[in-house]
Amino acid sequence: MKILVIGSGGREHALAWKIKQSPLVDEVFCAPGNPGMDEIGPCFDVDPTDLSKMQELVLQIVPDLIVIGPEAPLAAGLSDALRARGFDVFGPSEKAAQLESSKGFSKDMMAKFDVPTAKYGRFTDLTEALDFLETMDAPYVIKADGLAAGKGVVICQTLEEAENEVEAMMTGKFGDASSEIVIEEFMEGEEASIFVLTDGEGALYLPAAQDHKRAYDGDTGPNTGGMGAYAPAPVVTPRIMELVQTLIVEPMLDGMAEEDMPYQGVLYVGIMVTPSGPKVVEFNARFGDPECQVLMAGLPGDIVPALLICATGGLVTAHAQIAEMMGLSDFQPTATVVMATDGYPGSYPKGSIIDGIEQANALEDVTVFQAGTDKDSDGKLIANGGRVLGVTATGEDLKTAVSAAYSGVDQINWPEGFFRKDIGWRAL
Ligand code: AMP
Ligand code: GLY
Repeated sequence: MKILVIGSGGREHALAWKIKQSPLVDEVFCAPGNPGMDEIGPCFDVDPTDLSKMQELVLQIVPDLIVIGPEAPLAAGLSDALRARGFDVFGPSEKAAQLESSKGFSKDMMAKFDVPTAKYGRFTDLTEALDFLETMDAPYVIKADGLAAGKGVVICQTLEEAENEVEAMMTGKFGDASSEIVIEEFMEGEEASIFVLTDGEGALYLPAAQDHKRAYDGDTGPNTGGMGAYAPAPVVTPRIMELVQTLIVEPMLDGMAEEDMPYQGVLYVGIMVTPSGPKVVEFNARFGDPECQVLMAGLPGDIVPALLICATGGLVTAHAQIAEMMGLSDFQPTATVVMATDGYPGSYPKGSIIDGIEQANALEDVTVFQAGTDKDSDGKLIANGGRVLGVTATGEDLKTAVSAAYSGVDQINWPEGFFRKDIGWRAL
């Protein structure tokens, strides 16, 4: 089989790496890919949101399966365009991907199907939004409706701050993405992420993962795309997982099918574990990054049958067999430590030289996934983005996995980079 992986982050490197290990797979292609993915298979420099260029590429490769990693091409309708040409695609339709691309849509769906989440209001009118704020208590949670590269949620401690934020968003802070906003109740608790592979009917639950959103140790500093992750996350007990399944995922999947937009691909369920049970913080239409790195490395089996059946249907009948092929019940504890360029998530320089990836990869149980990397004119690996490497390791328990990941980090010689030293602290 030939599989095309779309995207260029650590998430897509991990997907391509895992897919390449499948005995079903002859060749993995990537678009646009990165230097790490280039070692797995040919990379094509095509923008995933350019639907016509992507279709040209796909007609040239003729893959048996296309796996779409990031949200932007999903929201742009790439999966619909490729399916219309007869290709099997892992990734939701543009309509179904609104669970991520419109926070208001997502909240309305949750309300309609009685899925537990924070109380909210949805606004396009500034005066109405400001009036609603007065009916809420601090802290105030304000969200841009559309995609804002992970920056669209602001939590304000005072009413004045909240009013200013609402006004800034509605007058163009994130362009069109924040002309509509959601204001919601603040939820207390511990966060976790649950990833569900689905063909729209059946569902395979991957072990719960936890991300580290803040830039610095002790969960301090600005929010980032994620500075590390681990799985399984013990905060999601079997009881919580059961509640997520029956109160959140099953009603959402049934509801989306009823609304004529069945959800296929991976559903990312961000939850808050509150004293009154799990509540949805957000849905995303894709794997989390770095969570995907942890999940791909920790699964001992073959991911390809699962990806394929989500794209083509039939998961309900084949569920037990697919779960066994993935090795779902033998998932190994795994941790990823993200190495980022100094300055991230603010501005940072590009072009610093990174050494030691081979040495890190040579360690038992360690794999380095690449994200914002490039090659310079001498073929040396250089940093070309904020989050640059995901040093990932498995272990017999989480503690061993975390310590192996840090042994990997020790092998990397990159003075311009930084990383958090406390990945997994909540579980350890
Ligand atoms: P999101 O992009 O929706 O994941 O929001 C970013 C982060 O904001 C989440 O990971 C939470 O830490 C926080 N957050 C979002 N909504 C809420 C809420 N209603 N209550 C508390 N924290 C929230
Ligand atoms: N790590 C969080 C995300 O990918 O959205």
